[in-house]
Amino acid sequence: MSKLIYVLNGPNLNLLGKRQPEIYGSETLADVETRMREKAASKSLEVEFFQSNYEGALVEKIHEAREKAAGIIINPAAYSHTSVAILDALNTFDNPVVEVHISNIHKREGFRHHSYVSSRAEGVIAGLGTLGYLLALDYFAE
Ligand code: DQA
Repeated sequence: MSKLIYVLNGPNLNLLGKRQPEIYGSETLADVETRMREKAASKSLEVEFFQSNYEGALVEKIHEAREKAAGIIINPAAYSHTSVAILDALNTFDNPVVEVHISNIHKREGFRHHSYVSSRAEGVIAGLGTLGYLLALDYFAE
């Protein structure tokens, strides 16, 4: 049976491709989802892809993952820098977590340098564009 990986995306990532393309690139979140589904299929993984602009919706999806997912790939977007609620939810999840950022948050404004989620994540990928999501999938395929 293939392993199910939850791929969770935080606020404003629904606008990927239109939003500050000089920082986040021109690919849409739907493009990322397609590439991930293709790669997952070739690695005997399955992905559940989810985006929300609401913190509570992300918390509830993490609770759902507790029962269903072998791992979580999460780009918490702006909530990385503010959300103890998302960190607490991830701390109730027993399987590995990989945090992804499209941009290199350490090269940007000081307020982006700290992520609450990083203290829970097995690994963090930042600054490699949307390729980071696919590399995170490789981790789960190993
Ligand atoms: C982001 C970086 C965050 O600082 C920002 O708030 C985002 C996207 C990234 O993928 O580079 O919305 O997580």
